[in-house]
Parts: sequence; structure tokens; C-alpha cells
Amino acid sequence: MRRFLIAGNWKMNAGPTEAKKLADEIAETWNGKSPKSEVLICPPFVSIPFVVKSFRDTALKTGAQNVHSESNGAFTGEISTEMLQELTCEYVITGHSERREFFGETDAVVAAKTKRVVTNELKAIVCVGEKLEERKNDSHRDVVKFQLEAVINSIDNEYASDLVIAYEPVWAIGTGETASPEQAQEMHKFIRSILSDFWSETIADNIRILYGGSMKPGNAKELLSQPDVDGGLIGGASLDSSSFNEIITIAESITK
Ligand code: 13P
Repeated sequence: MRRFLIAGNWKMNAGPTEAKKLADEIAETWNGKSPKSEVLICPPFVSIPFVVKSFRDTALKTGAQNVHSESNGAFTGEISTEMLQELTCEYVITGHSERREFFGETDAVVAAKTKRVVTNELKAIVCVGEKLEERKNDSHRDVVKFQLEAVINSIDNEYASDLVIAYEPVWAIGTGETASPEQAQEMHKFIRSILSDFWSETIADNIRILYGGSMKPGNAKELLSQPDVDGGLIGGASLDSSSFNEIITIAESITK
């Protein structure tokens, strides 16, 4: 049984003041409750301590959107896994398409970061996903396979349980367009088959695969009901506490 992971990626939104307000609103709904789903917010670095504080008396978790692959040193502007652990983060997003596109992160960089995360007692949410033209020319499976294999090749199977994969078709991110539930299920099943071939069926069955790309209350039920969709990585809708809470509530109502 895979537990849903409902994760909000706030991207470069919500500085400390707004983050505290938003996190308080989310915490208020879940305070004293133990949701079946694991719920996570990944704020900008500077807002992490504020979200941690707001979530203190709840089961809600805090993560980061990025990390460096070294533990310390002359890397101006960077943040290490140790620093995130000190803030009690549990998860780190790696390989988001925006990092790949705007910050030149290659598959090798994503693999190094992911390795650093899982070997330092954190969990990685590894993002993969094709661009629109790749979907159109039917190379989306190859693209996702390549991105995924680049990462798992560098991870020992003892760390497989610290991996979460997020399928985020680039054409669906922030566009209001979503993969259809069938498209999502097809790709998630394909991703699981890659993990199964690489490690084993048992390991693959335990790795959660999230969908990301314009998930919102209106489409969450259909997407989350797919057999291989184990949660969501939510951008825009996670910046609205009632939408995010609604998605969590939808996840709570689904039994597979
Ligand atoms: P949107 O939900 O805004 O499309 O963003 C998805 C995403 O990139 C989450 O990481």
C-alpha cells in the first residue's frame, strides 16, 4: 500500500510573511488530525523556518525545492543537505523542469543532487517529464526513461525507498493544461516498469509516483484515482490554502 503524498511546491513565491500566513491557514485545517496522506510544503529557502514553525503541532511536513550536491565549501549562494536537516526538512525536490531549463541542470547534476539527498537521510522527489514537442513527436517515453535512468543509475537499491518520482509534463506546468488521467496513468505505469526492471517489482511497487502539472481541486479526484498515481506535486494551487486543503481532502476520500 502506497501512502499518498500531497506536496506543494511554492516555487519563488511566498516570502516569510506570506509563507507564515499560508502555512498557518493550512495548519489550522489539519491541526490535531492525522491525515492518511502525507502532506508536504516546499517553500523558498528563506521561508522554510516559518513554515516549520507553523506546522509544529501538526503532521504536516516541510521540504526544499533545491539543494547543492556538496556538503559545504566555496559555493556562493548554495544550500547543503546538512543545512536543510538542521531546519528539520524531510524532502528535497530535484530535477524540476524549471531548474533544468533556467539553471542549466543536466541529468548528471540532477543525479548528483539526488544521490546527495538520499545518502544524507533526506528523501528526494525527482522530477521527470517531457516537453510539448517531445509529446507531439511521440518521444515522451524515451525522454522520461532517459531522465529517470540517469538518476537511478547513481542510486544504490538500499536508498530506493527514499525516492519519490514526480511525473511533470512540462507542457502542463503552470499552463492550466493537464495530462488526461489516461495519459498520466500510462506514463506512471511506464515509470514503474522502468523501476521494476532496474531494481525489482517489490521495490518499484513501494516507490510513489506523483503527478504534477496544473493539478487543482477540479481535476485531482480523477488523477489521484489512477492506480499508479500516488499523489501530486502542486504548484499554483498550493499557493491558495483552500485549494490545497481541498486537494488533500479529495486524496483522503480515495481508497485504492
Ligand atoms: P502547477 O501546479 O502550477 O502547474 O506547477 C506544477 C509544478 O511545477 C510543481 O512542481
